[in-house]
Amino acid sequence: MSIDPQSHPPVKLGVLISGEGSNLQAIIDATGRGELRADIRLVISNRADARGLERARRAGIATRFLDHRRFKSREEFDRNLLIALTAHEVELIACAGFMRLLSPVMLRAFPNRIMNIHPALCPAFPGVDAQRAAIDYGVRFSGCTVFFVTEGVDDGPVILQAVVPVLQDDDEQSLAARIRIAEHRIYPYAIRLFQEGRLHVRGRKVFVDNAGSTDDEMMLIHPPLR
Ligand code: GRF
Repeated sequence: MSIDPQSHPPVKLGVLISGEGSNLQAIIDATGRGELRADIRLVISNRADARGLERARRAGIATRFLDHRRFKSREEFDRNLLIALTAHEVELIACAGFMRLLSPVMLRAFPNRIMNIHPALCPAFPGVDAQRAAIDYGVRFSGCTVFFVTEGVDDGPVILQAVVPVLQDDDEQSLAARIRIAEHRIYPYAIRLFQEGRLHVRGRKVFVDNAGSTDDEMMLIHPPLR
């Protein structure tokens, strides 16, 4: 059965950022190309100088700067996030390089409706500097994971993952750049799956309607056997 994305309305999206905003840009661009039906209602940054704010403004999207240092607690900051997001009727939140942990205030208000992207194959290398950790460990593959945010760090139900090789002469920058290309492909797609109503969370697993099948003998070996 093929799915007609037009049969579902655009998802009202809020995006939380702290910096560069290249994933935000990928979401904006996918929307522009018609690959994703998203109405990006609001972009919030906890840093005034986040480049992503400029990207949003250029795309004509409403922006807010909410300085976490102004609030006494994580919960109070989150209550203010919540007020802004609900005022813009946001249904789904995409964290895209947002460098704050969310408290139960936000998680309870948006159960299984907050996504994040992590530059590693969860549950490997949670937290900051995941690319550095992958190189230091000596893994042959890393990648990125889109997941639903829970109270833990980068440990929520996995929606999509993409795998990239870690090359022997990689440094943090070269690996991050390779992973970033994958991030920009899978994040808009994860949001599209939500918009199409195809994601179902049961326990800690996400089931995807009409996920298609991959070859069950699919195998990646690196370095190649030769
Ligand atoms: C990405 O590497 C993402 O995986 C991590 O933060 C970075 C954000 O990059 N959560 P950008 O701001 O989207 O360019």
